[in-house]
Amino acid sequence: MSAQVKYTLEESQIPKFWYNIAADLPTPPAVLHPGTKQPVGPADLEPLFPMELILQEVSTEREIEIPEPVRDILRLWRPSPLIRARRLEQKLGTPAKIYFKYEGVSPAGSHKPNSAVPQAWFNKQAGIKKLTTETGAGQWGSSLAFAGSLFDIDVTVYQVRCSYDQKPYRRALMETYGAKCISSPSMETESGRAALAENPDTPGSLGIAISEAVEVAVKNPDVKYALGSVLNHVLLHQTVIGQEAIKQFELAGDDPDVVIACAGGGSNFAGLAFPFLGLQLRGGRQRRIIAVEPAACPSLTRGKYAYDYGDTAHLTPLVKMHTLGSTFIPPGFHAGGLRYHGMAAQVSQAYELGLIEARAIEQTACFEAGVLFARAEGIVPAPESTHAVRCAIEEALRCKAEGKAETIVFGLSGHGHFDMGAYINYFAGNLVDVHYDEGELAMALSGLPLVAAQ
Ligand SMILES: Cc1ncc(COP(=O)(O)O)c(C=O)c1O
Repeated sequence: MSAQVKYTLEESQIPKFWYNIAADLPTPPAVLHPGTKQPVGPADLEPLFPMELILQEVSTEREIEIPEPVRDILRLWRPSPLIRARRLEQKLGTPAKIYFKYEGVSPAGSHKPNSAVPQAWFNKQAGIKKLTTETGAGQWGSSLAFAGSLFDIDVTVYQVRCSYDQKPYRRALMETYGAKCISSPSMETESGRAALAENPDTPGSLGIAISEAVEVAVKNPDVKYALGSVLNHVLLHQTVIGQEAIKQFELAGDDPDVVIACAGGGSNFAGLAFPFLGLQLRGGRQRRIIAVEPAACPSLTRGKYAYDYGDTAHLTPLVKMHTLGSTFIPPGFHAGGLRYHGMAAQVSQAYELGLIEARAIEQTACFEAGVLFARAEGIVPAPESTHAVRCAIEEALRCKAEGKAETIVFGLSGHGHFDMGAYINYFAGNLVDVHYDEGELAMALSGLPLVAAQ
């Protein structure tokens, strides 16, 4: 069997700019204040974020410079490799060429540090010494904990309860980097106490954990908040992934027909896909671009495109996005990083415009693909990433059936070394396809906020 082929770039080829897709998309719907329901301005966001990040959030400049000290830290693991999965191709007997862009090489084991480092750096520049955040899979919490340790910032992480219980080693990793990790919902915030009063056995959700972290930042002027996905500036920071991939495909003398990534809040997907989509929006060739989400939390494929809150307690601004309703608590499946009720506004806008496709997949099919991939390529994918692996395999088998030698690239957003409990459950036959309650979904959707300017 032929070995893997790896396309690596020099450190000097780490992008010098982030790519801002706002420059190439139509003007998006306004972001609204949760109280007045009027468009927010930069000043409204100041209790939560430092001004440099707010300016990135609203920027329409195509290129935003990556500060040199940030690039210097990115060098610890970037450029990340683009790898041709020859053994997987052979196992599938497909004429398709399958590549993956591997983000598991970062200190936290996923794409998340690509944004944690600049977020911590811009907070440090603004004199901030304390940050709060949420984490679903534990990946974002570990990443911000790592970034906080570099810049001497105290980090408190509200970790969604089911993930806190499933992954003690993620918690230990956050603590190793010096962060404090609290199971969410907690008794430490009003939002947490309200969620526990409503359902003491709740598995928690990213929506609740965001409420807790935001509440602490709003109530304490010396604390700011950092979000691991969804917002424009987070998507922006992740575009180093796709920009590097474009250069690596030049090295490979190839060009993808299909680009695939899993999507929770959308930053991993945007990171790989938006630089390719940007080429297309500026007159380049069309590609199929697919966002993959869990069937148990299908915000793009089953959600409404409507204004909604980013959190359960309704403390965040209202954003027009694909949403399952901010009060929707997804069942406690294993890809904790994909258990979010909404999708990033820019990803939602691209989907509404028909620029991207979306696919929802059940977790057992994803784990089956993850195991096949690990046995072919040696890397155990994170449960979130197995969604992209599964979709890439489905596309490769379609190519086989149609006799087409298409080129497929997918984002392998992280490794699963802290997720082996999920694999143990899968091998023991205990992993089932959990389904959300249709009645609960209908109720959450019927409770969407009424906004004049839809
Ligand atoms: C490994 C991994 N992949 C993908 C995701 C989803 O990321 P995003 O919210 O950027 O879509 C997560 C989220 O925690 C993750 O940990």
